[in-house]
Amino acid sequence: MTPSRRQPARSRITVLRHKAVLATVPVAVAALIGAAGPTATGATGTEGAAGAAGAGDPYFPLSGNGGYHVRHYDLTLGYDTSSRHLDGRAALTARATQNLSRFDLDLTGLKVTGVTVDRAPAAFRRKGQELVVTPRHTLRAGRDFSVTVTYSGTPKPVTDPDGSADGWIPTDDGAFVAGEPQGAMTWFPANAHPKDKSSYDITITVPQGRTAVAGGVLLGQHTAHGHTAFHWRETQPMAAYLATATVGKFQIEQYTTRDGIRVYNAVDPREAPAAAPVLKELPSVLEWESRLFGPYPFRSAGSIVDHAPDIGYALETQTRPLYDSAPDISTLVHENAHQWFGDSVTLTAWKDIWLNEGFATYAEWLYAEQHGGDSAQKTFAALYARPASDPLWAYPPGDPGSGGNIFGPPVYARGAMTLHELRKAVGDRDFFRVLRAWATGNRGGHGTTAQFERLAERISGKRLDGLFRTWLFTKGKPNSA
Ligand code: TRP
Ligand code: ZN
Repeated sequence: MTPSRRQPARSRITVLRHKAVLATVPVAVAALIGAAGPTATGATGTEGAAGAAGAGDPYFPLSGNGGYHVRHYDLTLGYDTSSRHLDGRAALTARATQNLSRFDLDLTGLKVTGVTVDRAPAAFRRKGQELVVTPRHTLRAGRDFSVTVTYSGTPKPVTDPDGSADGWIPTDDGAFVAGEPQGAMTWFPANAHPKDKSSYDITITVPQGRTAVAGGVLLGQHTAHGHTAFHWRETQPMAAYLATATVGKFQIEQYTTRDGIRVYNAVDPREAPAAAPVLKELPSVLEWESRLFGPYPFRSAGSIVDHAPDIGYALETQTRPLYDSAPDISTLVHENAHQWFGDSVTLTAWKDIWLNEGFATYAEWLYAEQHGGDSAQKTFAALYARPASDPLWAYPPGDPGSGGNIFGPPVYARGAMTLHELRKAVGDRDFFRVLRAWATGNRGGHGTTAQFERLAERISGKRLDGLFRTWLFTKGKPNSA
């Protein structure tokens, strides 16, 4: 790969980082509110207590909720592309992890018209991004319960601490739906923290001629009275931020790979000429990644190539990455590497974001190295040559400090450099064993930075705490081994 082909990914990040400067204060305020949250809502009674309003993540204090785990989301949506009106019904199957007198879901904007719990009408109120639900009876720890929420309105994206938009973002022919880090709540009520993973059925009805694309397998498609309903199912656990229901005028391509993976590509015709030669490489990219990282973790794959030039980023939506325009090969490699690193093995806290972005970036370097481009060492060296004043060294990637920093160059590039340092320290053989063991051992679950360090130490038999401390947690430009 030539450096110029990698350039779009890097400039994308630079733009976002630039916006980040403006947004530090709201994040700090949010952190304070979050700190007060659990105390305010955590009153105990003999009957049960309120579930916490957040999952306890200091970067996004109100994301996710306490007291339950969602096992399955069944979303039935209708979107009118001209009025931009969304009708929704969310049916959740959840399990209480404590006795619950009430609990929250994350939802912002939209009007809620009814909530039931175990089929009985439940009381609810809105409080910022929380939908607070009080069931008739206390929910018992360990027991399953069902929730339905009916809602409608014009979804609006959220502005991230770094200034970018995520969530349900209208386009000229539909909507670009990307939920990282906090956009899921703009289109469905959720336990929207990556700690909580669930299976999904998403049925979405759009005007005939438009296509609605989600993750997983297309179970059916039905047209009547000028509308088409698309029914998608993802059976493997998925974090809310990786769900999509992107709508547009798309050309569809479907096939099954040699490994039996079902591919569904949806491409905006305006992007088709540029996208075609890159998407053609998807099966070989997935095969190459499977050789390095272990078997592809899902049963379906593909791409959603939208024409949404103002977005400025792509997202690794589970099984089917979402691009704002035709991706280059590096971006295709990056988003599909996330299927292992981020989607299958998921964060438990946003501070660990380098486990997603550092790994997906290093996959780009490895792809270049093994396909006639620069060696990873050369890419590393070019970055390492940047002066101490460069934004690359602005903060350490292991705890970037706030939600506004999670997509900055230290996380992507210095995160990838950390892996390269690890590779140099343990040698290729053990390095690739570590990557593979990480992906296969935590498949469908979660992983933390501390667990990754322990795994690397176990496989290599080396002490690596110094390396990780220097590269992930120490301010300023580190010394390189
Ligand atoms: N995770 C995406 C990627 O690197 C990037 C991304 C998703 C992003 N949502 C974002 C970047 C919001 C900035 C803001 O593949
Ligand atoms: Zn990424």
